[in-house]
Amino acid sequence: MRPTVAPMPATRLRRMRRTPALRALAQEVRLSTADLIWPVFVREGEGIREPVASMPGVDRLSVDLLVGEVERAAKLGIPAVCVFPYTDPVLRTETCEEAWNPDNIANRAIRAIKAAVPEVAVMTDIALDPYNANGHDGLVRDGVILNDETVECLVRMALAQAGAGADILGPSDMMDGRIGAIRQALEAQGHKDVAILSYAAKYASAFYGPFRDAVGASARLVGDKKTYQIDPANGDEAIRAVERDLAEGADAVMVKPGLPYLDICRRVKDTFGVPTFAYQVSGEYAMLRQAQLNGWIDAEKSTMESLICFKRAGCDGILTYFAPEAARLLNAGWR
Ligand code: PBG
Repeated sequence: MRPTVAPMPATRLRRMRRTPALRALAQEVRLSTADLIWPVFVREGEGIREPVASMPGVDRLSVDLLVGEVERAAKLGIPAVCVFPYTDPVLRTETCEEAWNPDNIANRAIRAIKAAVPEVAVMTDIALDPYNANGHDGLVRDGVILNDETVECLVRMALAQAGAGADILGPSDMMDGRIGAIRQALEAQGHKDVAILSYAAKYASAFYGPFRDAVGASARLVGDKKTYQIDPANGDEAIRAVERDLAEGADAVMVKPGLPYLDICRRVKDTFGVPTFAYQVSGEYAMLRQAQLNGWIDAEKSTMESLICFKRAGCDGILTYFAPEAARLLNAGWR
């Protein structure tokens, strides 16, 4: 039991807030560059840097420029990047075979990054949406997202990414049974040390809008993703999903989106005590960024406040488009 707080004047909470030194001592959690995973977008070509309109400051990069950016990220102390592909529209089909092509743009990017900057961990995304003619994460037949057939595709995708040298696989598709199927295939195919960070508590969210622009899936998406992503009203269901994915062989789990779901982060950490990550998604970035650009909120302070909140909520790390900026500020001694 918590002792009752003594009344004034025995308790004056402002005593420990009085100076920067006292506040530093009383600070409960800290953000470090080691907490950051930087999501990046890759596309075909050479020397190409293509801005994503709904994500000011975020670009789709060709592999050569991406490798340069990851080298810079490594120098900033960012331990990991997460690669998302913008697939050439002609390669998007209803059957999605480009998703497990060992030489698709994502897999080429993984190989190039591991060759140039092996110390940076490369995370992937496993879902069919960047390769699907209809923008869904799974195969669609007669308007229904097929679970088990999709899982077979995801397994092929996982093996191709592991073969390309990925360190962490990130299944973000929300099909049932995919973690177990992927884990089994990795064990069987000689990839026993490849980690799985499951997007376990992934909500059917409006905050993915700018990301779908970035990977070219928004105009294609028919309907919504509510038959596979979690209802934003549900918390217990997220806990069940995390428990299930851990039992199937996930090494770490993710809550997504981030800021509107900090209660879920805390519940996951307290319930399971496993490596817990949050994804501060594209729409969260866009809201903060645009308000910053308009001068409505302080850019540095709002970025760093948004990130420290994830640590307070129990997260071990954060996927954030602000990673390079946050790392620069941390390296400059941000408090
Ligand atoms: C694909 C995927 C999505 C995101 C990551 N992986 C979009 C979606 O599920 O529609 C969103 C990331 C972001 O918004 O930054 N399955």
